[in-house]
Amino acid sequence: MADSAKLSVGGKEFDYSVRSGSVGPDVIDIRKLYAQTGAFTFDPGFTSTASCESAITYIDGDEGILLHRGYPIDQLAEQSSFMEVSYLLLNGELPDKATLDKFTTTITRHTMLHEQMATFYRGFRRDAHPMAIMCGVVGALSAFYHDSTDITDPHQRMVASHRLIAKMPTIAAMSYQYSVGRPFLYPRNSLSYTGNFLRMTFGNPAEEYEVNPVVEKAMDKIFILHADHEQNASTSTVRLAGSSGANPFACIAAGIACLWGPAHGGANEAALEMLREIGTVDRIPEYIARAKNKDDPFRLMGFGHRVYKNFDPRATVMKKTADEVLKELGVTDPIFDVARELEQIALNDPYFIDKKLYPNVDFYSGVILSAIGFPTTMFTVLFALARTVGWVAQWNEMISDPEQKIGRPRQLYTGPVQRDYVPVGKR
Ligand code: CMC
Repeated sequence: MADSAKLSVGGKEFDYSVRSGSVGPDVIDIRKLYAQTGAFTFDPGFTSTASCESAITYIDGDEGILLHRGYPIDQLAEQSSFMEVSYLLLNGELPDKATLDKFTTTITRHTMLHEQMATFYRGFRRDAHPMAIMCGVVGALSAFYHDSTDITDPHQRMVASHRLIAKMPTIAAMSYQYSVGRPFLYPRNSLSYTGNFLRMTFGNPAEEYEVNPVVEKAMDKIFILHADHEQNASTSTVRLAGSSGANPFACIAAGIACLWGPAHGGANEAALEMLREIGTVDRIPEYIARAKNKDDPFRLMGFGHRVYKNFDPRATVMKKTADEVLKELGVTDPIFDVARELEQIALNDPYFIDKKLYPNVDFYSGVILSAIGFPTTMFTVLFALARTVGWVAQWNEMISDPEQKIGRPRQLYTGPVQRDYVPVGKR
């Protein structure tokens, strides 16, 4: 691409520099556009807008490529661990063994919640959605950990990041135990990050909980696959909230709220509910027809992606993991047949081919999580748990950026022009 772009506004020509990243599309730097032309750009949904400079994650949606700090997601999912990927996302490089051990110990030592926080849970209805609990409890961390809310101090920022990564499994497990009326379990430091989470979620104080290594590995992979995804809606929310100088716990709570929606992290829950609603393979054509019908708002959940227009590399690993888990647990459930058949039918249907709609990460994650024993309401919670590391890495990157400013988009105003107020008796 050229190193500058010309724009003609109101008969005058303006030059804007074009900047190149290490890979990926160039960007036209239009920061001076408004000052020079008096015009804004209009890009609802940010389909053509690079909101920031970042060195964390790269996606090529056409080629189905996802890299964290340069490493392909399939290599990380197959060969790394969630703790190592967390270190990588936060610090930029893979750790050596001693550094990884130290990082893992640091995270492990932060897994307990302030004891008083347990009482918060009792204020929620038993049937509260665990995402509602997560939003509240994570936001409330800022009321307990004052010594890590000074965002100008890099040490405090790192302590807050470690705390968030460490405490999310505890908070998530407690929201599940609360919903089923079982006592909370304290973390056990001898277990891995993921093994500890499984025990806190499914264990009870009366018995020893045996962590199944196949399930532990699968869960760890699911966490890796969800760890970060560049400037998606929830990450952009975290950055926007953080750009005002808000504390990290409040910012992550904002990210959790955004993730909850069915077009984003809520899709895994919606996908499994859709599979259950379809129920049997013979009903698939009816749902395919609904997805294609312009007058029907129904969409195939777990299909399509804003960025991936070829395949979602996370879905490929997820599908393989689903097969491994189902085999290990010997689970048979008709929804798994519905999922496989639905994928085949959609992948061969011209509507889905033409619109480049492929299964995304959430299509198979629900199948695995359901086989492990998680209720659908916990699915997005697990996504939030894993994405926390991406959120804190992106938040840290933003705060350390010397060019960082408060995020403040503008608008194309289409409301009434100025008019005089008329008192109620005269209207
Ligand atoms: N089923 C049926 N039609 C679809 C679907 C779908 N799942 N997704 C998109 N389309 C159609 C849509 O109707 C539109 O058709 P037309 O051009 O005729 O109006 C076209 O494809 C483009 O859709 P869009 O909504 O403009 O695309 P987008 O990039 O704004 O939306 C999306 C991306 C993920 C929100 C959307 O594909 C969707 O709603 N999928 C279902 C929800 C889902 O699985 N979300 C999880 C995303 S992956 C996890 C994450 O990162 O959060």
